[in-house]
Amino acid sequence: MDLEKLLTDRLAPAFEKVAGLPVDPVVRRSQRADFQSDAALALARRLGRPPRSIAAEVLDRAELGDLCAVAEVSGPGFLNLTVADRALGGLVAALATDPRLGVPVAAEPETVVVDYSGPNVAKEMHVGHLRSTVIGDAAARLLEWLGHRVVRANHLGDWGTPFGMLIEHLADLGEAEAAQELSMGDLDAFYKAARAKFDADEAFRERSRQRVVALQGGDEATLRLWRLLVEQSERYFLAVYELLDVTLTARDFQGESSYNDLLAPVVADLDRAGLLRESDGAACVFPPGFAGRDGEPLPLIVRKSDGGYGYPATDLAAIRHRTGSVGATRLLYVVGLPQRRHFELVYAAAAQAGWLVPPARAEHVGFGSILGSDGRMLRSRSGESVKLVALLEEAVARATWLARERNPDLGEAEAAEVGRAVGIGAIKYADLSSDRHKDYVLDWERMLALDGNTAPYLQYAYSRIRSIFRRAGTAARPDAAISLVEPAERALAIELLGFSGVVAEVARSLDFHQLAAYLYRLAAAFSAFYERCPVLRAGGELRESRLLLCDLTARVLRQGLYLLGIRTPERL
Ligand code: ARG
Repeated sequence: MDLEKLLTDRLAPAFEKVAGLPVDPVVRRSQRADFQSDAALALARRLGRPPRSIAAEVLDRAELGDLCAVAEVSGPGFLNLTVADRALGGLVAALATDPRLGVPVAAEPETVVVDYSGPNVAKEMHVGHLRSTVIGDAAARLLEWLGHRVVRANHLGDWGTPFGMLIEHLADLGEAEAAQELSMGDLDAFYKAARAKFDADEAFRERSRQRVVALQGGDEATLRLWRLLVEQSERYFLAVYELLDVTLTARDFQGESSYNDLLAPVVADLDRAGLLRESDGAACVFPPGFAGRDGEPLPLIVRKSDGGYGYPATDLAAIRHRTGSVGATRLLYVVGLPQRRHFELVYAAAAQAGWLVPPARAEHVGFGSILGSDGRMLRSRSGESVKLVALLEEAVARATWLARERNPDLGEAEAAEVGRAVGIGAIKYADLSSDRHKDYVLDWERMLALDGNTAPYLQYAYSRIRSIFRRAGTAARPDAAISLVEPAERALAIELLGFSGVVAEVARSLDFHQLAAYLYRLAAAFSAFYERCPVLRAGGELRESRLLLCDLTARVLRQGLYLLGIRTPERL
């Protein structure tokens, strides 16, 4: 059980009695004592009483005897709380026998659709898709672990006008040649060649336009070529997911094209509900409360003037499908911040149409850009956007090289495996440990460093604990009596008990940097503990107790990193 929550639950009724209204005690970790509440300060003005006297009365009324060794008023009116060693030991012992490490499954499990990755057919995934893939996968792992039914939706861009030129280019190359080129993952070359012809050659342009018509009209020969493009791209994306240790599978592709048959009914329903207005020949919804810079209401174009449906109509159909047929109540869209406005309009229109009504709700899990060391959008040396695969391969190569340098005895295969776990882990962790709402700078040195808030540091902490057990030659006894004598030992115990609170918070906010920061604090607390408290050299019960603390730390690190999608090798 989360200590902060435990203390909150004890203080809240006392505060309520004193204040005559519900009060959040705001219990936080503190330097002065284990925890501190400053709620009395905030209440003082409201109650017209000195904060110290409020705090003192709360202490009188709160039942803290079994939990706290010291509970006192300090400074202007803080409540300082020091947890009793016995209580702490008991809570840690309960954690040790809990396979879920104190994290309860959701009391009300729901169906959650996580829309993430969403690359585009016949186009290279770029670093923006990396963030979506990494953050979305962490969300899927976390919510699944909490007992929710998670539906992974890979909203593949597999439809629209560019397919005219792509299919024509494919037909020009011949199927065998095209399949070869695409299977090598040279999607950009393919796309660019098609584009170049389209720009240069009027006849090709005309053929491309006719292809779009044939594609939309369901022409079988055209559909076959289109499927070839989609299949080759999907195969390539799956290889990237595998390299990236991402849980997306072939079953999770829910391409834009899969909503084709729903588009006309969606627009018809909007019309019936009286929500459509014509604007420059296009059919639009104008959700209330959205205005452009000029103050004019913003449209969501659901049918273009040429009669075609685009990205917004597809997203509306997807929402109706997800809340209707799939039965989801929480819809997550892990997509870059530039698309924020699009999603706000789509959610508002879906709400008006009755497809997104409580308890169902949608959240845009937005994120900033990845920047190069020059502080600008990440570019390759030739100035183009960086290919995701190139980035991942560089990470693995660098990490493998570092692993060999640090440990020359490492065999070839082992070095490769460590290099992969560390390199991929470093990339993912660099992303997940940064506040997703902001841009972040991709810095190889920092993300691969063995110290600081990095994946290698946490993986190293994990492997170090595993090596303690290799030397001990035994596993920890889950029923060992916990004794917390040293301050570093107590500090570690308190961190261990904080896991469930952080997980609960991140399940709500999807701010994974908070989970990362927690794991980093835990690893640092372990480091301090291990420096000051001998484990293998301690005797008898103390040794058992400390081994159990080591084991718990390893389990929390492993589970926490698993939730972030990061591997924990036994040896580095
Ligand atoms: N394919 C889109 C892109 O590359 C991302 C799709 C996001 N998901 C969605 N439901 N619109 O920008």
